[in-house]
Amino acid sequence: MSGILDGKRILITGVLMESSIAFHTAKLAQEQGAEIILTAFPRPTLTERIAKRLPKPTKVIELDVSNDEHLAGLEEQVREELGGLDGVVHSIGFAPQDALGGNFLNTPFESVATAMHISAFSLKSLTMACLPLMSEEGGSVVGLTFDAQFAWPQYDWMGPAKAALEATSRYMARDLGKQNIRCNLISAGPLGSMAAKSIPGFSELASVWDDRAPLEWNLADPEPAGRGVVALLSDWFPKTTGEIIHVDGGLHAIGA
Ligand SMILES: NC(=O)c1ccc[n+]([C@@H]2O[C@H](COP(=O)([O-])OP(=O)(O)OC[C@H]3O[C@@H](n4cnc5c(N)ncnc54)[C@H](O)[C@@H]3O)[C@@H](O)[C@H]2O)c1
Repeated sequence: MSGILDGKRILITGVLMESSIAFHTAKLAQEQGAEIILTAFPRPTLTERIAKRLPKPTKVIELDVSNDEHLAGLEEQVREELGGLDGVVHSIGFAPQDALGGNFLNTPFESVATAMHISAFSLKSLTMACLPLMSEEGGSVVGLTFDAQFAWPQYDWMGPAKAALEATSRYMARDLGKQNIRCNLISAGPLGSMAAKSIPGFSELASVWDDRAPLEWNLADPEPAGRGVVALLSDWFPKTTGEIIHVDGGLHAIGA
């Protein structure tokens, strides 16, 4: 059976638990014919354990996106395993506790800087680390955001970090278009992953979806977001770049 990622080689970051958007992306990517490689943070053993639940075995590489040595070592390890890359998935987000949960006005810059580094700047550093692996045919870079057009309850400095991620993605689309590399984001609705659980009061934020989303939204189902990522990795969005596609049950379109 043919899949929409047949013959594609994809690097996927962010597989931590079965609830990770990246786990569902990895599963769907393999089902759609891709060869994948995973990166792991904080420990490869955690990701290796979860990766056993994927349809096919996959290599796991340690990668802290704020570690320049890890980034520099990525090319060789990926080349050895896959020969090159046709796609990269950035499914990474982090903010220190004092940058979340209603402390917006008192968060120190140090914590804001960490949130920006790990959640936004890393889209650029990860992509640049992978760039030598992409051929003249180009490729697709896909990241995950949480709609940064609005101020949300509790989300605090992750909001400006996501706004920075969204802008970074547009600038990367600008600068990598000549190499036929597309850069797009999926803007997902709330999902009960580890990243979400670390936001104090996350359920308050998520309850907005019960009241307002046109399509029923299931907090426990990351598959729709994963499907969006796989679609953007495929050849079915060949002229789309610098775009943000909402996989949020339609909430972004509703005023009140
Ligand atoms: N869960 C939601 O409600 C939601 C909604 C919209 C967007 N997102 C975004 O989706 C992406 C994936 O999050 P998730 O919900 O699957 O949660 P998750 O906790 O499963 O994934 C977050 C990932 O970030 C990785 N990470 C953190 N610091 C890192 C570092 N220094 N280096 C490398 N990796 C690092 C973690 O290892 C983890 O795998 C994030 O960008 C998140 O902001 C999540």
